[in-house]
Amino acid sequence: MFENIKNQFPVYSEKPNLVFLDTAASSLKPISVIKSISDCYAYEYSNVHRGLYSLSSNLTTKFENVRSKISKFINSESEENIIFTKSATEAINLVVETYSNKFLTEDDEIIISYLEHHANIVPWHMAAKKYKFKVIAAEILEDGSIDVEDLLNKINSKTKFISLVHMSNVTGSITNFEQISKKAHDNNIPLLIDGCQHIAHKTTNVEELNCDFYVFSGHKLYGPSGVGVLYMKQKWFEQLDPYQGGGSMIDVVEIDKTSYAQGFQKFEAGTPPIVQVIGLGESINFLNNHNLEDIFNHEKNLYDYAYEKMSSMNDVLIYGDAIQKGGILTFNIKNIHPNDIAMVLDQNNIAIRTGHHCAQPLMKKIGVQSTARASFGIYNDKNDVDIFLESLNKAKDFLK
Ligand SMILES: Cc1ncc(COP(=O)(O)O)c(C=O)c1O
Repeated sequence: MFENIKNQFPVYSEKPNLVFLDTAASSLKPISVIKSISDCYAYEYSNVHRGLYSLSSNLTTKFENVRSKISKFINSESEENIIFTKSATEAINLVVETYSNKFLTEDDEIIISYLEHHANIVPWHMAAKKYKFKVIAAEILEDGSIDVEDLLNKINSKTKFISLVHMSNVTGSITNFEQISKKAHDNNIPLLIDGCQHIAHKTTNVEELNCDFYVFSGHKLYGPSGVGVLYMKQKWFEQLDPYQGGGSMIDVVEIDKTSYAQGFQKFEAGTPPIVQVIGLGESINFLNNHNLEDIFNHEKNLYDYAYEKMSSMNDVLIYGDAIQKGGILTFNIKNIHPNDIAMVLDQNNIAIRTGHHCAQPLMKKIGVQSTARASFGIYNDKNDVDIFLESLNKAKDFLK
């Protein structure tokens, strides 16, 4: 499957020997996305939403079409539920600050998990300091997934928000939201899902997930950096105050007071990431042209192949083997620092990630400071995995 897909990614014509295994950090960009961005800057550019001239109104239409495209892509009620931000991080900060500021106070609790990226931990700590609520974390299981039973047990009358990852950027495990979402809604607790890792690998359906907020970043789904998406359930548009003030988010401004715009505009202050949104629209076209379930199976097959070979090596430790998981293989080699492995692999044009993966509480929980991580995207193939494994064996011999 996807035999000639590398041809669509210009980096491979410049670097034919590249083995890129860091898609979980950020994906490579197909030519269609790159071209949409350069064409927009070259031939279509002006500010959106403001100009009466056709250059601006044409680009505004194209920009707003991306909102509809995203809405369909994640099966949201309407494009009106889609807010553009500069990143998933900004989207989470927006929800955390506006919700905490309005609804959280001393004695309240919010629940995250040990599996979260710092983007879904630190904003909560910052708000907890300001508004005095408690941050509670659900445990994880041996297989690297959220301990749903523990999480459900931690929900009580003080719980005012639940914020969890959809697919872990370290263990790759996919959270099953069925019971979590049901219990949250039975108890009137809003649910945020961090979809950064899930969005480009498996179909996302916010209606089925029944979440209040869903966030992701453009750069992880073959699109540009500098744009993020926040899906927000209708009722929150009225209940939350704006996050930032400035142009575009207003209704009337007088010298001593402001009234705000309604809907997504209320949360989009200033000039939006115009060209990034256009690029993101093209990356969704790219994904729609390649069935997401096929992409998932392709990446999972590569993962399974690598996992099988690596788990038979007696000096390899693999973190995360949940049944429901994506193509993320996090590992360590006994007695070798992961950075040393990455540096030797880089000499063979193999790009893997090492470090704490912005998940220090998880690292502490599994008793390591850092790990190596190979993560798969649509452009990887079996040959990439073979080169990676061969080089890994050579690196081990060399470093030992
Ligand atoms: C699970 C998860 N959440 C949040 C983020 C933050 O995304 P960004 O840095 O694009 O805002 C990442 C990025 O690595 C991630 O993997």
